[in-house]
Amino acid sequence: MKKEINVFDYAKEIAKSIGKGVLLTSKADGKVNTMTIGWGTLGIEWAVPIFTVYVREGRYTRELIDKSMEFTVSIPLGDYDSKITGYCGTHTGRNQNKIAKAGLTAVEPEIVGAPGFKELPLTIECKVVYKELQNKNAIDKTLNDKFYPQDVDSSASGSNRDYHVAYYGKIVKAYIIETK
Ligand SMILES: Cc1cc2nc3c(=O)[nH]c(=O)nc-3n(C[C@H](O)[C@H](O)[C@H](O)COP(=O)(O)O)c2cc1C
Repeated sequence: MKKEINVFDYAKEIAKSIGKGVLLTSKADGKVNTMTIGWGTLGIEWAVPIFTVYVREGRYTRELIDKSMEFTVSIPLGDYDSKITGYCGTHTGRNQNKIAKAGLTAVEPEIVGAPGFKELPLTIECKVVYKELQNKNAIDKTLNDKFYPQDVDSSASGSNRDYHVAYYGKIVKAYIIETK
């Protein structure tokens, strides 16, 4: 069962959760993958609701979103096992099924290809309407030095030499997955 929502009614819950880690899920060529994100922006542009995610260039997720131009964001409501976001934020899905490893229960999406999850029930389905590799020359120097250490390889799950691609996702559906 899914309860459709106005995503802005949950802006507070979403804003509080993002910094702790939520899931960004993508699907292309029959492969589904999820990764933890700690950055994300909910707002409006082009007169439609937009959720923007920031994905470093070297992430496997980047490849899948570039191919499909779609994603879902999954946000916990209430208690959940933080080992899920821990695992999905420190392992790449290039050579493993993280969804199975993290014990996530996938739920069929409504419009995009990537699923939501029972364990993080607030689900936002998005279609990418704009993407941009952030301009390294336009980032504040203190932030640039902190978040983009050029001596750290792209494979590092934390800060590394790769800059972020901002994917602006037009919100095409938002709902809560209800298990009872
Ligand atoms: C709490 C937390 C937040 C994170 N936030 C982001 C983020 O916003 N953008 C990003 O590119 N990587 C972020 N990461 C790192 C990715 O989740 C991690 O590199 C992951 O292994 C990438 O998976 P993939 O290679 O399957 O795409 C975060 C990791 C953690 C633990």
